[in-house]
Amino acid sequence: MSEDIARPVSSQELESYFSEDYIHFGCVINPPDASDRQAGLVWDLLSLAQGSAVLELGCGYGRIANRLSEKGAQVVGLDISPILLKKAESDAAERGINVEYVLGDMRSLPWRDRFDAAFLWYTTFGYFDDADNERVLREAASSLRKGGCLLIDNHSRIVSLRHKFPICDVARLNDDLRIDIYSNDVLSDRENLERIIIRDGHIRRTHLSYRQYGFSEYVRMLRSAGFKSVEAYGKEGEAFTSDSSRLLVVAYK
Ligand SMILES: C[S@@+](CC[C@H](N)C(=O)[O-])C[C@H]1O[C@@H](n2cnc3c(N)ncnc32)[C@H](O)[C@@H]1O
Repeated sequence: MSEDIARPVSSQELESYFSEDYIHFGCVINPPDASDRQAGLVWDLLSLAQGSAVLELGCGYGRIANRLSEKGAQVVGLDISPILLKKAESDAAERGINVEYVLGDMRSLPWRDRFDAAFLWYTTFGYFDDADNERVLREAASSLRKGGCLLIDNHSRIVSLRHKFPICDVARLNDDLRIDIYSNDVLSDRENLERIIIRDGHIRRTHLSYRQYGFSEYVRMLRSAGFKSVEAYGKEGEAFTSDSSRLLVVAYK
């Protein structure tokens, strides 16, 4: 593991990772039926109802936000990538729904006591150093009304550490390839991902790194951010165990 990649991600790296290539391979990684199921799970875990005011932080190209809107929630999606937001808006227009998409940084949010629920879905939490990751939680807490809840979905560190790194994962779309090489840095508790895109005869390399927190660390951070209680679930919303591949955390303000 080179020390260079076991560190928080810069804004430039985020922009280059979450680019048009990310959208291009999106339908291979998360086909529509998988996104339908995930949106259903978000709806249930956040106990959403018709008209609930929901904020997605790091909404990407809107695959979950647009589906929640179709189900009757009032959705705001925030993302740092203009390219992904444009795709989210065009998909919303095709579906005939109204989602408010906002270009911004989850470390500094403009809302106070506004939302019934907020969420960071699909490994969208942990890109920064501990201070900034905790800042995201405080900003999310401030954006929620009293009693509102926050959902975070990340890999489970327990299961990740059982893998024999590096792991290589290949996605293919026609002649295009997306090669992901995962490694883990046990000294910083970060998972690191080197991505190689081979598309239309060109090769591009990007990098992502995210901190992997255990549940007790989430509880400490979320309480200190202003949440009163915190629950843990597995990938499909079942009880979280040492065999759960994902850790879904739900915190109530
Ligand atoms: C792994 S993607 C998940 C997208 C979406 N939640 C989904 O399930 O498809 C993470 C998203 O977080 C966004 N992001 C990264 N850093 C951000 C920041 N500082 N503020 C807002 N969004 C950010 C990226 O642009 C990307 O769209």
